[in-house]
Amino acid sequence: MKNFRQMKHRGEKITALTAYDYPTARLLDESGIDIILVGDSVGMVVLGYQDTTNVTLDEMLHHTRAAARGVKQALLVADMPIHTYDTAAQAVEAAKKLVDAGAQAVKLEGGLSHVAQIAAITKAGIPFMAHIGMLPQRVREQGGYRIKGRTQPEVEALLADAHAVEQAGAFSVVLEIVLADVAKQITAAVGIPTIGIGSGEHCDGQILVTHDLIGLFPWFTPKFVSAEARVAEEIRRAARAFVERTKSSGQISQASLH
Ligand code: KIV
Repeated sequence: MKNFRQMKHRGEKITALTAYDYPTARLLDESGIDIILVGDSVGMVVLGYQDTTNVTLDEMLHHTRAAARGVKQALLVADMPIHTYDTAAQAVEAAKKLVDAGAQAVKLEGGLSHVAQIAAITKAGIPFMAHIGMLPQRVREQGGYRIKGRTQPEVEALLADAHAVEQAGAFSVVLEIVLADVAKQITAAVGIPTIGIGSGEHCDGQILVTHDLIGLFPWFTPKFVSAEARVAEEIRRAARAFVERTKSSGQISQASLH
């Protein structure tokens, strides 16, 4: 495992992307990415659920096994789905299953409210990545994918979360949709690296859902993403070309019968 704290202190940015299958994990790994996350975003961009709240542990284990087969150099982190960490004992049990499936570290959503679970996971010797700010598994209670850190109580809660997860043994913390200035403040306040998603440029690293980065889920792209490719368009183009080629070859062979 790379020393992510040292990377933070050297000012070397950490890169992270999601993968849920063998070819994507292998392609990202071969591209030199630092961290590959088998995110529970798989529920939305692969399984077609409306949000991540329906993702099960079995689904995460299946996708973690597939991704793990493609990874040689990156750190493979797996997301713990909702309700697999309601208690510390449950959290350790689920984390161990993800490790058995090939994950080298796990992530769950929550800060101060989940220190017992985080401490139990790290005590069991499993590297842990925290996730604070906007919590997609709580999207229904939180009333949408809204930016965090707009009010002073929210800023204080985020700082308390960041300190709590560091103390509980997290090796890094994802900051999701946090106001850029607040993400900067958190980044300066903790010793572990912050990995931002929609949280500005001052985090120690950046993470994105690969489908957003490569334009593979064209029906919804978060505002903060600037896509580097239009893979959905390429798939449509290739499929149309195949349909056209196949249909027209049928017409040619029928014509040759007459
Ligand atoms: O599930 C996921 O993909 C995530 C990242 C976007 C941080 O949690």
